[in-house]
Amino acid sequence: MDINYLYDINQFHIYYVEEIESTNTYLKEHYHEFPKPSVLIAKRQTKGRGRYDRVWVSDDGLIFSILFDKLYYNEIIAPIAISSVLKKYNINCGIKWPNDVYINGKKLSGILIENIYTNKLEASIVGIGINKDNKNNVLGIGLKDYLGDFNNIDLIKEIILKYQELLSYDFNKLLAIYKELSIVIGKRIIYKNKIYTASSIDEKGYLVIEDGINCYHISSDEISIKESIIGAVKK
Ligand code: BTN
Repeated sequence: MDINYLYDINQFHIYYVEEIESTNTYLKEHYHEFPKPSVLIAKRQTKGRGRYDRVWVSDDGLIFSILFDKLYYNEIIAPIAISSVLKKYNINCGIKWPNDVYINGKKLSGILIENIYTNKLEASIVGIGINKDNKNNVLGIGLKDYLGDFNNIDLIKEIILKYQELLSYDFNKLLAIYKELSIVIGKRIIYKNKIYTASSIDEKGYLVIEDGINCYHISSDEISIKESIIGAVKK
């Protein structure tokens, strides 16, 4: 397995590998060997991982992980960066909390953020997978449907440039953009068999939900948001 340094995009050092188990797993084990921030792009993963130990399978998709040595508001920056770039191409996408990017009710992109601590933060790894081909793909959607054939690395470059811009924004500015792009905030959701209004996202990335009396901060995304209710119920 050869990891090649490609070039820098502003302060980001870009690396490329044809095949790897998982860009996140690799950076978790080798973060000390890379300058920060770095981006590791792969053509293929043999053991791509999703949240909750799920498998991430991607045919010819965009696969990359960004390595930082600080914590940023990555939970919201990452999906904003992806969505903003796609919107430039007139793709009508939105963010499903916490950080999935959806098009027409289908998941296009997933993000796996892993922070490594010893007695201090060692590394923060933001793994991004974006589907390209909709064939052999359980999610049933791919960017090819919208952009035709395109160069993966060029699109990743655009996302990194946007990411860089967003890193300088404060939380309130990011939150305002996130809310605009969200397909959950401002909508009704179902959590533990009760209906709430999802009103915001807090600085930890928790979803803020309200039932008219109380307000709760939900950290797990294993809440049952009923797609049929999202969008169907007015605020
Ligand atoms: C999810 O939706 O559950 C998150 C999926 C994250 C997939 C990306 S692909 C690049 C990076 N390497 C991995 O093994 N996973 C992330």
